[in-house]
Amino acid sequence: MSNETEKSQVIHGHIHWYPGHIAKAEKKLKEQLSLVDAVIEVLDARLPLSSRYGDIEKLLGEKPRLILLNKSDLVNEQELKDWTKRLEKETFCPVLTSDAKHSNDLNKITNKIIELSEPRIQALMKKGLLRRAARVMVVGMPNVGKSSVINKLTKTSKAKVGAKAGVTRQQQWVRINPKIDLLDTPGIIPMKQDNQDRARKLAFVNSVSQNAYEDEMVARELLLILKEKYAQNVYDYYKLKSDEDLTLENIAKSRNWIIKGAQLDIQRTSAYVLGDFRNGKTGKFILD
Ligand code: G4P
Repeated sequence: MSNETEKSQVIHGHIHWYPGHIAKAEKKLKEQLSLVDAVIEVLDARLPLSSRYGDIEKLLGEKPRLILLNKSDLVNEQELKDWTKRLEKETFCPVLTSDAKHSNDLNKITNKIIELSEPRIQALMKKGLLRRAARVMVVGMPNVGKSSVINKLTKTSKAKVGAKAGVTRQQQWVRINPKIDLLDTPGIIPMKQDNQDRARKLAFVNSVSQNAYEDEMVARELLLILKEKYAQNVYDYYKLKSDEDLTLENIAKSRNWIIKGAQLDIQRTSAYVLGDFRNGKTGKFILD
């Protein structure tokens, strides 16, 4: 998890971020953005709205942007198609989907980025400069898959992949195509959340430091949301009876997760419920 998310903590069951740290992260992001011609904004396909950064248009100005709904393998295909269309309409940006964990074919991203950057390169050439490769960077919230996308685009293991995003490394450009130089360090979008609903959703997909919440609180919220939209999948997965309520207690009973004194092991159940959702075991869900 990135540094900025470490600067969060549980306050009265709420998820809280320090504003000072956000300002620093924004400053760094702005510096990185000033170096590039175009941006790939990576979103978590399970949260096409909540994993978006509200001020991105302001940050980017006129800079071309490709939106990438990543982790497409973890969501329902038809719902993802609908969201792709909706985002295209709302943002006026091209929107593509990707599975940066399993798929090696990210050519469609490269082609789209070339197309998006070309007008800017042409404009530079009109000013008398020689043609150069477009400079591009990947931005997004923690854990949406930025490093994985960079890895696949660079086809090397240079970019570090893992849950602990934000490892400080020297910035360098990688030529991924004669027409594109990619910044090998992703831009981390700071967590500026005053909206607890959104913060909890980001916790469901592991985009918030685990210091910032209690598993039990977040797992209970997740079950409430899943119950509204995808109850059947969850009942089937945990083998719950139809007359049972979808609660941590009933899941613990069904799995026989008991601790000393015949008490239900709610801590273990909470961790499993979150893990099963994050790995797509419970089903393929979009939560926005
Ligand atoms: P970040 O730079 O945005 O912080 O994200 P990063 O690429 O480090 O990816 C965070 C986690 O999400 C990693 O899992 C990574 O494998 C996984 N991931 C990235 N893209 C996809 C995708 O399209 N689909 C799926 N299912 N997972 C994806 P991890 O558990 O931390 O590491 P690992 O055990 O998978 O290597």
